[in-house]
Amino acid sequence: MVQLSILILDDEKVFRDEIREFLENDSFIVHSAALPSEAFPILENHEIDILILDLRLPEMDGFEVLEKVKKLYPHIEVIMITGHGDMDAVIQAMRMGAVEFFPKPFRLLDMKAAIRRTRRFIDLNHRLKEINQSYQLISKDLRDNVGYEMVGRSKAVQQVIDLMRRVAAVDNTSVFITGESGTGKELIARGIHYLSDRGDKYFHAVNCSAIPETLFESEFFGYKKGAFTGAEEEKAGWFEIANGGTLFLDEIVDMHPLLQSKLLRVLEDRKVRRLGATSDISVDVRIIAATNQDVKGCVDENKFRTDLFYRLNSFEINIPPLRERPEDIPVLLNYYIQTLSKKLNKKITGVDNRVVAAALLYPFPGNVRELRNMVERAIILSDGDKLTVNEFAFAGLKDIEVDEVDINVEETFDLDEIERLTIIRALERADNKKVEAAQLLNITRQSLDRRLEKYGIILD
Ligand SMILES: Nc1ncnc2c1ncn2[C@@H]1O[C@H](COP(=O)(O)OP(=O)(O)OP(=O)(O)O)[C@@H](O)[C@H]1O
Ligand SMILES: [Mg+2]
Repeated sequence: MVQLSILILDDEKVFRDEIREFLENDSFIVHSAALPSEAFPILENHEIDILILDLRLPEMDGFEVLEKVKKLYPHIEVIMITGHGDMDAVIQAMRMGAVEFFPKPFRLLDMKAAIRRTRRFIDLNHRLKEINQSYQLISKDLRDNVGYEMVGRSKAVQQVIDLMRRVAAVDNTSVFITGESGTGKELIARGIHYLSDRGDKYFHAVNCSAIPETLFESEFFGYKKGAFTGAEEEKAGWFEIANGGTLFLDEIVDMHPLLQSKLLRVLEDRKVRRLGATSDISVDVRIIAATNQDVKGCVDENKFRTDLFYRLNSFEINIPPLRERPEDIPVLLNYYIQTLSKKLNKKITGVDNRVVAAALLYPFPGNVRELRNMVERAIILSDGDKLTVNEFAFAGLKDIEVDEVDINVEETFDLDEIERLTIIRALERADNKKVEAAQLLNITRQSLDRRLEKYGIILD
């Protein structure tokens, strides 16, 4: 345990010496002063944790000293010594931030107990400060890496990253993220949070489809002790936990309509009330909602409340499925082979290009998550330093389809080859219509022609 430093400020020498002797036995560092003018230089030059302060002093009274100390050294805890029976003084001292008070005369053992209580308080404060500091460091680290994590060279992904950055800069706009399962909705939500000024506060993700109706209020709003059977402790709800930060409401359209209207009320009033409480708590939370369902369809079917939809949909970000942006597939393969092989402690230096071709033709119903899982599985299965088609299970994809695009087996990523494959894939999707294929690839028609020539691709 850290040794605490205590300063006694009292003009009675007997009293000072008595406390000093008593406490020094107990391995505290004890300083003492008879006058405020002696005490302030000590406060200035030593790290004092606790000040034992007499109310009646020459030069200035104890309240003035207390006020000045709290202003200059807010971390110092003050134990006041007041005159006997002076309740007004006690109340004022507590109001001004003293932690304990003693009427004179008091028993030294009581003083020791008070110091022990104060010490626990100081220790907790230290701990809280440490936690805060490490949290700030971690979240800074995370924030520095946001953006790099969203991988992709398609126009769609570049646009999503741009929207994410722009909306992060606006403090409290609600965001609605749509996209199929595994397209990166939560990744985007976290990105917005960490890039925003709220980045060092809490990001709390809630899966709305998993909350039973009966728990909604206690989870979102919290409760007071004894609010219902089983409420043995006071509990903060998610709105309070995320106060100052971001609340991510995943699968929002699965929320029961009755709960949707309760949620809407909080969003409008920006206040919550714990169950069993008599007053409201103001909350300042950015809401990011997401779903992989067709929201507008749900609104039309009255499954999702129109008013809540418009309240949340101030800013929509849609992430297209991976099969609609095949140019991201090779980049993501590369990214996951590199990051996951490092994580799994395997040395993988290359991938059979037939894997890339197969991936380009595969529809990825589970989107990026499925691709990631495939790569992880392949790395675990692989014995060599190169991933081959054998380690990949592209469901329903036969080797023959791979052979059709006639891929050379390469040791490493060949960007030309990937580009060639991407173009073939785009032409397939566009039914060999060049204008559409060029649009899909986000290049001009002329640039597509140049590439077709370069790779010797001839259209029938
Ligand atoms: N463009 C991307 N670059 C890198 N990783 C991505 C990208 N998109 C998604 N991911 C990764 O894919 C996985 C799934 O993403 P996430 O959980 O955000 O998807 P989701 O849209 O929330 O899915 P669901 O609807 O199933 O909840 C995560 O590991 C995420 O990091
Ligand atoms: Mg998700």
